[in-house]
Amino acid sequence: MLEIRDLSLTVSIEGRRVEAVSAVSLQLEAGRVLGLVGESGCGKSLTAQAILRLGEHQGVEKSSGDILLDGNSLFEMDDESLRRIRGGRISMVFQEPMTALNPVFSIGSQITEVIRLHLDMDKQQANARAVQLLHDVGMQDAEQVLKQYPDSLSGGMRQRVLISMAMAADPDYIIADEPTTALDVSVQKRIITLLLNLQKKRNLGLLLVTHDFGLVAEMCDDVAVMYAGQIVEAGKVADIFDHPAHPYTRALMGCRPEVSEPGASLTVISGQVPSPGHWPQGCHFAERCSLARHDCMEKPVTAACWQQGEHIARCLHVDEHDMDDRT
Ligand SMILES: Nc1ncnc2c1ncn2[C@@H]1O[C@H](COP(=O)(O)OP(=O)(O)O)[C@@H](O)[C@H]1O
Ligand SMILES: [Mg+2]
Repeated sequence: MLEIRDLSLTVSIEGRRVEAVSAVSLQLEAGRVLGLVGESGCGKSLTAQAILRLGEHQGVEKSSGDILLDGNSLFEMDDESLRRIRGGRISMVFQEPMTALNPVFSIGSQITEVIRLHLDMDKQQANARAVQLLHDVGMQDAEQVLKQYPDSLSGGMRQRVLISMAMAADPDYIIADEPTTALDVSVQKRIITLLLNLQKKRNLGLLLVTHDFGLVAEMCDDVAVMYAGQIVEAGKVADIFDHPAHPYTRALMGCRPEVSEPGASLTVISGQVPSPGHWPQGCHFAERCSLARHDCMEKPVTAACWQQGEHIARCLHVDEHDMDDRT
């Protein structure tokens, strides 16, 4: 089990340390897909990257909480253990495949490097595994692809390569941060299907970061909705789709033009996500919420302010909204 427990992160903005992720808790289990959804700027990538402690070079600091892999804190691990976990037990697929690939090395050398970093294989064995991995992500002419360089591949093909690299050492968890956002709509569906097939076949725990509620509906078992650094609603996808409790979740769902069209951009919820350092003292969503009352503006709202089984929402007035009346 991979568990984020009450994680708060600060970033440095104009020389000031400000909170950007606030007491986030998430649990990812083998065989399950967890969606982390919210508009741009809500802190999804900071949260996802914290799992492998990737933000530390960009001035991201943990101010409280912990991340546990099978009960062991990733923050207390030595560099060697962390190196083995990165890519070995937990790997990442990023939004923009080109930035994650090195343009001056062939695809083959980049995949075999990852393989040999984690598995005890000689060059020939690593090469054979690379071919197999590329087959697994749907590339027929794998031998040919190994000789090519990143810029000679399409965006979709590059993302397949990155997924094959993420699978190289048979990880238990994959963190996919907007894995299809940079791709053509026609390709998105295929990449998502590929990820989901791999997830099922290998019983992976998959954290899917996305701004697209339609993808959550198609792919995820569980969902956490993030707004301005906080989880505002979480639970099983089925429950949240039937009864979205938080006005932000409802707005995100309503925003989505066509559930059958993955990747279609959100029509706008009026207003903007407040940036770190500018969060309101009460509910973070209050200033954009059509249902907000006076107390929403003033009173800090706890994470599980409203709870029904495993379904939680950070809203003072859930019971007063008509939960079946989706707009
Ligand atoms: N290294 C950083 N330094 C300062 N601010 C950052 C840094 N990384 C992210 N931020 C800010 O934190 C907020 C959340 O960012 P991010 O996690 O990338 O959001 P999301 O992935 O949900 O779009 C944004 O306002 C962003 O500008
Ligand atoms: Mg992001």
